[in-house]
Amino acid sequence: MKPPKRYLITSALPYANGPLHLGHIAGAYLPADIYVRYLKLKGEDVAFVCGSDEHGVPITLRARKEGVSPQHIVDKYHEMIKKAFAEFGIAFDIYHRTSDPLHHETASDFFRTMYEKGEFIEKEEEQFFDEQEQQFLADRYIIGTCPKCGYEEAYGDQCEKCGTSLSPKELINPKSKLSGNIPVLKNTKHWYLDLEKYQNEWLEKWIDSHKSDWKSNVYGQCKSWLKAGLQPRAVTRDLDWGVPVPVKGADGKVLYVWFDAPIGYISATKAWAKENGKDWKDYWQSEDSRLIHFIGKDNIVFHCLIFPAMLKAHGDYILPDNVPANEFLNLEGDKLSTSRNWAVWIHEYLQDFPGKQDALRYTICANSPEQKDNDFTWKDFQDRNNNELVAIFGNFVNRAIVLTHKYFNGIIPEVGQLDSFDEEILNKITQNIIGIDLSLENFKFREALRLFMNIARLGNKYLADTEPWKLIKTNENRVKTILYNSMQITAILAGLSEIFLPFTSKKLKDLINLSEIPWKDIKSYKTLLNQGHKINKPSLLFDKIEDEEIEKQIQKLMDSKKANEMENKTVEPVKENIIFDDFVKMDIRVGTILEAERVPKTDKLLKLKIDTGIDQRTVVSGIAVDHKPEDIIGKQVSILMNLEPRKIRGIESQGMILMAEDASGKLDFVVPDEKTTNGSGIK
Ligand code: MF3
Ligand code: ZN
Repeated sequence: MKPPKRYLITSALPYANGPLHLGHIAGAYLPADIYVRYLKLKGEDVAFVCGSDEHGVPITLRARKEGVSPQHIVDKYHEMIKKAFAEFGIAFDIYHRTSDPLHHETASDFFRTMYEKGEFIEKEEEQFFDEQEQQFLADRYIIGTCPKCGYEEAYGDQCEKCGTSLSPKELINPKSKLSGNIPVLKNTKHWYLDLEKYQNEWLEKWIDSHKSDWKSNVYGQCKSWLKAGLQPRAVTRDLDWGVPVPVKGADGKVLYVWFDAPIGYISATKAWAKENGKDWKDYWQSEDSRLIHFIGKDNIVFHCLIFPAMLKAHGDYILPDNVPANEFLNLEGDKLSTSRNWAVWIHEYLQDFPGKQDALRYTICANSPEQKDNDFTWKDFQDRNNNELVAIFGNFVNRAIVLTHKYFNGIIPEVGQLDSFDEEILNKITQNIIGIDLSLENFKFREALRLFMNIARLGNKYLADTEPWKLIKTNENRVKTILYNSMQITAILAGLSEIFLPFTSKKLKDLINLSEIPWKDIKSYKTLLNQGHKINKPSLLFDKIEDEEIEKQIQKLMDSKKANEMENKTVEPVKENIIFDDFVKMDIRVGTILEAERVPKTDKLLKLKIDTGIDQRTVVSGIAVDHKPEDIIGKQVSILMNLEPRKIRGIESQGMILMAEDASGKLDFVVPDEKTTNGSGIK
């Protein structure tokens, strides 16, 4: 394949209905950003485009729930997302949005061209309709029981439990999400993309042609869709939020969000080109351009089958050359979930860890779910920061700069004859640089990052083994060579950091007083810092992250887990009525725990001695999981006094302690707000 003249890199347009989280960044944005930084460092012509996906049912439902307009929702989140990307260093050339008139026009034109070419199947079909709301129920407006797994809240387009993609009519007991009513069936006309035809004509062949250059997870998913056989797909909906269908007889209909959103890549490119004196067509309609989509795995079918089908059916466009989709990044062993608030929100991270973007970028990249799902943990984040960024990278750079200042006043010394150890280290570094190049070319970001950190490791080893601080007394010339080499390695790191750790790169370039570090000089191991070049005073590149900061983040997650359990806890139905006389038969009083000990060979039972105001009695209580004996002595409790005594594990229990259960099943004592006399009745 001839090298391309230019690149168009896209990242999936995030829905503007919530803030960005770690999963977004790991899936479609950080890898794309790294790839783009790499291409730009190499001097390639690149447009990196993204924007907010502002249509679709989740947005209208959210607007409805909050009692505001959809535009209000997308305005809020568009700004928030855009800001978070910028602050996190995801450097799009443009961050556009699909509610922009330019996008509406572009998507409209796209549809009209296909329509005029006769690419759509026009079909009138029965669809669910909510009579109370006078609205057709597309996609997520309808819920029901999944025919595959029995999940009761499956959506009309997909079951989120088992992942099966569905059509509304497959749902068992369908219900309107709007009114909760049972919908009726009513005729409506829609336009379908004839995927079946494309599959037979060219789509399957085209996918097959990428068997060896696409990631196996991506290729495999495409093949399994194709094997099942593609069906015509409706690309219009009866909704009032979206791009209106630009043909006659389509009043009240809009383009399906998955039809208009990928066209958003085109609109974004147009907007960018206009602002930058470029021609957008060069990027989209010229065979010497290379189009690459970065996405998460849930978007594979849309980017590998449906959008290419649209592009080809339209006729004027190139097809994506690669779609390096990532798998999912989990959080602390659990699937990320926005509704359960099991997430690390980027805007919160930026607040909690100011100036530490690169620590998170580094950790995400090191755990990038390239081949399979992977896990992010706060502990690993701390370890990566403290043991790798601080202890390896930061330490090497700092030692090199400090020693250059100490022995040579911050001026790059003269290099002498290299010995075999110098050669060995520098050769290894060159090998690593070649490896980084190759890995990035093939979207192997984890591997590239590992090799990058290896260069700092080699730098550290170089200083540790040559010990310039000892040699300085006996052989200053040798120290000059060592520090000269160390500073070249530092400059290589500064240059390569631009790809992985852009904030660090900037700091480090300032430290060594060098703004331009061209890729070809790095790759050919050309001198980057000449003898006599003055560097700036040392300052630390990274700070340690303390245990407390990590504990706070983990606590935050635990809190949201708890809040969720509370919310989802199903409350038991009320028991049968009893008469007042039955109630007053119970003698419940306040008492104080005098003694407490574990009942041997049990996990749950405590043997308590209680002062009831009347007597002191023994009660066996199943509270040992939540309460340690030593913690509860002296506590007041409520005790049911006249419960028939019974033997538990050979101990006679004379009464029962009243406990309240919280959402997680934890038991707490039911007691008056303030201490009271033992024996006081509870009525
Ligand atoms: N908004 C979609 C999602 O978050 C992605 C849209 S990608 C595009 O899953 F290609 F349609 F733009
Ligand atoms: Zn299911």
